[in-house]
Amino acid sequence: MKHLLSIEQLSRAEILEILDLTATIKANRGVADPKPLAGQCWAIMFAKSSTRTRVSFEVGIRELGGSPMFLSANDIQLGRGEPIRDTARVMGRMLHGAVIRTFAQKDVEDFAHYSGIPTINALTDEEHPCQILADLFTIRELRGSLDDLTVCFVGDGECNVPRSWIWAAARLGFALRIAAPTRFQPPADLLARAGGNIAVTTGLQDAAAGADVLYTDVWVSMGREDEAAFRIAQLGGYQINEELVAVAKPGALVMHCLPAYRGKEITDETLEKHAATIFQEAENRLHVQKAVLALLTRG
Ligand code: CP
Repeated sequence: MKHLLSIEQLSRAEILEILDLTATIKANRGVADPKPLAGQCWAIMFAKSSTRTRVSFEVGIRELGGSPMFLSANDIQLGRGEPIRDTARVMGRMLHGAVIRTFAQKDVEDFAHYSGIPTINALTDEEHPCQILADLFTIRELRGSLDDLTVCFVGDGECNVPRSWIWAAARLGFALRIAAPTRFQPPADLLARAGGNIAVTTGLQDAAAGADVLYTDVWVSMGREDEAAFRIAQLGGYQINEELVAVAKPGALVMHCLPAYRGKEITDETLEKHAATIFQEAENRLHVQKAVLALLTRG
């Protein structure tokens, strides 16, 4: 693995290798911490806000012996129009790796190509691979395995998180049901390309029935703020609440990639009842990303 640009580009074996190494890294944190990034400097270049991703990468890079350098895309010449390929060719000569949060998937792909250094997608409009790897690890940790798994995604089925879920389901062979209004369903060509056991429906209750995991994300993704009123009107009702939890499998996990908007995609009551799972999921961003960093820098 040279880069982590998408779940689509990972094989089943690569995903499982990341999850297995994550378990070792998490168990050994503070006990036997390897330093594969010793002497390295990694850019964390973000064009969008972040709490979890920024903090977990800064901490993770330090714990692996490296130095993180946070660069807001608006503070460097990229924000004034310097092409990504020129930025990449400069950074590739000075840095050892880059973690990028931006809009277009093509920008992280181009950065990886022109910089020649390991590049990690920390969220684009098309994918959020680090999040879904942490989610898979959390499900395996809490449930014991990913076998016979049915995940139900509720809400904006067109955004980056469900898109990464689609590729995870296709690669690992679990069942994914996406409950979303017609206007917010994933594109048909993406579903055709991915294959796998994936069902898309407007029927929220049917999608959640017997599911092992109920999962949601915000209704208004970053960069879509001008559509907020329309999205809230369209997505209203596609909410994880106690009524929906009641139709899922008894003991089903409720997950949220955060930040959460209580009263919109999830109720306060349901979030608080499942806070242990949701914040374990957030913590696992650190462990899974350390595994990715270690794998990208192995000889
Ligand atoms: N889930 C997630 O990526 O959180 P941040 O936007 O806070 O990084």
